[in-house]
Formats: sequence, structure tokens, C-alpha cells
Amino acid sequence: MAAYWKAGRGIRCRRGLILLPRHRPDRGRFMARGYNWKFDIPPEIDEHSIAKHRVLRRYVENYIQILCLNPRRECLRLVVVDGFCGGGLYQTSSGEPHLGSPLILRQALQAGRAFVQTRRVEMGMHRPFDLEATLHLNDNDADAIKSLRAQLATCPKNEWAPTTHVTQLDFNMAAAQLITAYKHSRRSPRIIFVLDQYGFTQTTLPVMKSIFTTFPKAEIVLTFAVDALTNFASPETRELYRRILAKTGFDEVVSAERLTELKAEDHGAKHVIQTLLLREVFPQTGAAYATPFFVIPRQSRRGYWLVHLANNTRANDEMKRLHWQEHNHFMHFGAEGVGILAFDPVRLDETPQYTFDFGDIAQQRTSSALHHDLPKLVHDQFSAGTNVGTLLERIANETPATRDMVQQVLFELGRTGEIEMRTQHGRQRKHVDRLQLLDEIHPRRQFFLFR
Ligand SMILES: C[S@@+](CC[C@H](N)C(=O)[O-])C[C@H]1O[C@@H](n2cnc3c(N)ncnc32)[C@H](O)[C@@H]1O
Repeated sequence: MAAYWKAGRGIRCRRGLILLPRHRPDRGRFMARGYNWKFDIPPEIDEHSIAKHRVLRRYVENYIQILCLNPRRECLRLVVVDGFCGGGLYQTSSGEPHLGSPLILRQALQAGRAFVQTRRVEMGMHRPFDLEATLHLNDNDADAIKSLRAQLATCPKNEWAPTTHVTQLDFNMAAAQLITAYKHSRRSPRIIFVLDQYGFTQTTLPVMKSIFTTFPKAEIVLTFAVDALTNFASPETRELYRRILAKTGFDEVVSAERLTELKAEDHGAKHVIQTLLLREVFPQTGAAYATPFFVIPRQSRRGYWLVHLANNTRANDEMKRLHWQEHNHFMHFGAEGVGILAFDPVRLDETPQYTFDFGDIAQQRTSSALHHDLPKLVHDQFSAGTNVGTLLERIANETPATRDMVQQVLFELGRTGEIEMRTQHGRQRKHVDRLQLLDEIHPRRQFFLFR
């Protein structure tokens, strides 16, 4: 990491750590000014943003490995767009340097490529593999771009690196240019858009729509300050909301009247608004799956969503797995089993007895909620039976549980006879690891007698 830090003004302490001069012109995303890379001293980053960076890093590394599981694949063409990339360097609360998303994405691409190559060598495979990766880094702030260029200049020149392009544009303009550039390319590339905006207005619905229309296999990792959007909705702020919704293009789907009246009606309306965004606005992007989990910064009680939008359940599952790994930093305020959008009105405003933080207790509660919900869902929605793969797809948007967690519960329900589970050939599985996507699921015949 020190290599990236030559441009800064660090001082060495006895433990060999580089402590940075403290400078707090800003304290995070909800301050009007946001991060500031104007001075030589990098802005301070909070621990939740660091957790978010870990998710991003692991996601890109795992994405490459998962797509390259097929040993016959010789090349993966991957484009990563960091649309709101910032200045590339922060300091932690204890003054240690911490890389920003552009350098984290660069390292993740390097690591993903190295993992695949190493694994192939270990497996004795002679077929070559290479990653053809392009990293587009964009920010509209001149100081951020200056700082970023200084960080990139310190990267070693003699190592493999993605082809990197840096632009200083408004994101809408950058997105339009990228869509045009890649639309006509010979083979449609895999594209991941990392859209770490400050609030909720800089990434518009029409832009997300045109990303998924042009590249159906694209994925978007979007920061969306949902609490900031919902907290101030009231009849008095209707005019402001009209402008906000027009700016984001959300007005195609939801009107300012509907949003502000909902909030005025009752206490739980904030959650109804979130439901509305998830049920009505995000599907309009063209992405079939969305993960709506919260990051709650410590210094601000206003949470934001790290929304992952994709058309692929495997990708949706991978993002959920990372949330469970990063427990304590992510929160979920909906139902634990199936019915993700059944928001609990007792939320941030009160002191909740229990918070779903993706930790061990949340895992137990999710498992027992699924034990309750799945037999009912199978009975109500699949009376003629279904299979594991179809059920997983059906509930991907409805549960915080990963596929492994759902499969474990299905297996247990099959064993206790709460649902009927069998292979395509009518046999019982002996172990959950053997469960296949085509395994059949049927409701138990006397379902109602026992509920
Ligand atoms: C949350 S910060 C980015 C942090 C960075 N992704 C990271 O994790 O290291 C948001 C960035 O968006 C930039 N920004 C704000 N509005 C923008 C716009 N309309 N187009 C492009 N960049 C914008 C800001 O200058 C700021 O650097």
C-alpha cells in the first residue's frame, strides 16, 4: 500500500505505520460537501465505506473466478466502470492510508486473473487463460481526478494491469459515451458499473435503463441514499420532490403526490416508499434482481442501500453471500424469510430490540423464518410442484438468504416431511450437498391440517 502513498504527506510511527495529518473538511457522504481531495491530505473514510470496499473487491475477484470455472474458457473480456470514482485515496480514523474504489477495482482485477491462472496451473491444465480487462474511471471533480492520477502514477509499471481510462465528466455524459463505444463492439463485453453516488439523484433511471437495454448481462452496484430520499417526504416538500423525481427520471414511475402523501399518512410510510422504489422503480431499469440491503454509517443514522442490480440469480446470490460475510456493516429491515419487502415499521427512529445485521442470530432467525414460509409458499404458489432451481429464482428478490441457506432448509423440510422433495427419478437425497436444481418439490398433501 505504501507504493500508492508516495504522493501523500505521511509520517512514520514506531510501529512502522504511516500516520497521516488529521484533516476533516468533511465527514462522509451526508455532508453537503462530501469528500474533498483538494488538499494533499486525503479525506477520512468511515468503517462502513471500508466494508463496502471489501464487498466490491471480493465481488470482482469472485466474478472472474466464477465466470472462468469452465476450463475451456481462454479469455474473459470484462469492462469495469467506476462512474463516481473519487480521488483514489483516504485515511482511516487512525490516520492510516486506505485505497479508494479505483485502486481497489484495479487490484481485484489483478487478483481475479491471478487466481484463475494459478488454479489452472495447479490442475495441470495447459490451455492458456487471459483476462482482457478495461477499467473506466470517471469523476466530475477536478481535484478528485488530479489526486487519482497521482495515485495511478505510483502503481508499478512492470505488472499486468487492466487498460485504464480516466475521464472527468458528468456521469450521464460518461455513461452515454461508454454505451455508444461498447454497443458496436464485435462481442458484447461483460460490464460491471460501480455507481457510488453521494445521494440518489446522480444516477438516473433512463441511464440505468439504457445500460440494461444495451447490455442485458451488465451488473450495477449502486449506492442509493434511500433514507435521505424518504425522510423529508411531506406535503410541504412536494415541489422539491417533483424536481427530484424529474431529475432522476423516477417520475416516469412514481409521482411526487403519491410519495409525499404516503409519508404524510402514517408512521410506516417510509417503508412503504422503500417498497415502492423496490417494487416499481428498480424493476424499470430492466434488471430482474435487486438486493436492497442497508449500510448504516455510524456518524449518521441515515442509511443508504447498496443495491446490486443484475439479470442473473447467481450474481444476486454472490452479492448476498458477501453481505453475510461482512455482517455488522450491513442491515436488513425487512422480513427474514420470504417477503423481503415486508418492512418492519420499528426501525432506525426507535431503538430496535433486534437488528438484522447478517450475523449469527440473523442467520438462525432467517433459517427458522424459511422453515415457516417455504412450505406455505410451495403450497400456495406451486400446488402442482416445482423444482429447486425455479423456487430459488422465484424467491431471489424476496429473501436475504443465500441459495445455500435456502437449500439447507428445503432439505430439512424434505426430511421432516413438511414438503415432498425427490430427485427427478423419484429418489430421496441423503445429503444436502447432493441437491440439484432439477430436484422436485411438491407441497405436502395434508398441508392445511397441520398448519
Ligand atoms: C462517494 S464519492 C466516491 C467514492 C469512491 N467511489 C470510492 O469508493 O473511493 C462520490 C464521487 O462522485 C463524484 N460526483 C458527484 N457528482 C457527480 C456526477 N454528476 N458525475 C460524476 N461524478 C460525480 C464526486 O466528486 C465524488 O468524488
